[in-house]
Amino acid sequence: MTTDHLTIVNHPLVSHKLSIMRRVDTSTSKFRQLLREISMLLAYEVTRDLPMTTERIQTPLCEWDAPVLEGRKLALISILRAGNGLLDGILELVPAARVGFVGLYRDPETLQPVQYYCKLPAELEDRWTIVVDPMLATGNSSVAAIDLLKAAGAKKIIFLCLLAAPEGVARMQEAHPDVRVVTASLDECLNDHGYIVPGLGDAGDRMFGTK
Ligand code: URA
Repeated sequence: MTTDHLTIVNHPLVSHKLSIMRRVDTSTSKFRQLLREISMLLAYEVTRDLPMTTERIQTPLCEWDAPVLEGRKLALISILRAGNGLLDGILELVPAARVGFVGLYRDPETLQPVQYYCKLPAELEDRWTIVVDPMLATGNSSVAAIDLLKAAGAKKIIFLCLLAAPEGVARMQEAHPDVRVVTASLDECLNDHGYIVPGLGDAGDRMFGTK
């Protein structure tokens, strides 16, 4: 399903793998394996509209104008730490992508996201930038990360997540109407602790085996 701002990738393979990931008894290693597989499938979808050009090549039979990706390499930006779980699968399909990291924590008093780490690829203004974070919950950290990327020059940004809450999608749309959200599922709501319901719990804990 696609609207101007939101794409829900409800491919049967994605939905099936995601249901296994949601189960409370799915092990860390299985969770990680499924995340890698789903991120490849999501990468296929999120790169669907990348600009193309042609390059003159010689096949064994003739010269031909072959379709190739246009412009600078993609930039993948992981929001630490859970975003890293989506990186490997995407890099398998787009191995030449440049990778950046943004670290944010929530100030316990103001509840606002505070940046503690930022390392970005050069020339962001010329690249398609895909921001990855498995969970779009309140949207506060995702919006803050995109604020930061725009300040660094990024212009063409897509936000890729595994699960999105309606609250997070609305927040993103309000703050960054130009940023398309691509997700494997639009879940029901957030609970009082800011967790997505039905969700899958804490994505970082589940992928790294921490608690
Ligand atoms: N972050 C998570 O890891 N899980 C949620 O449900 C919400 C935010």
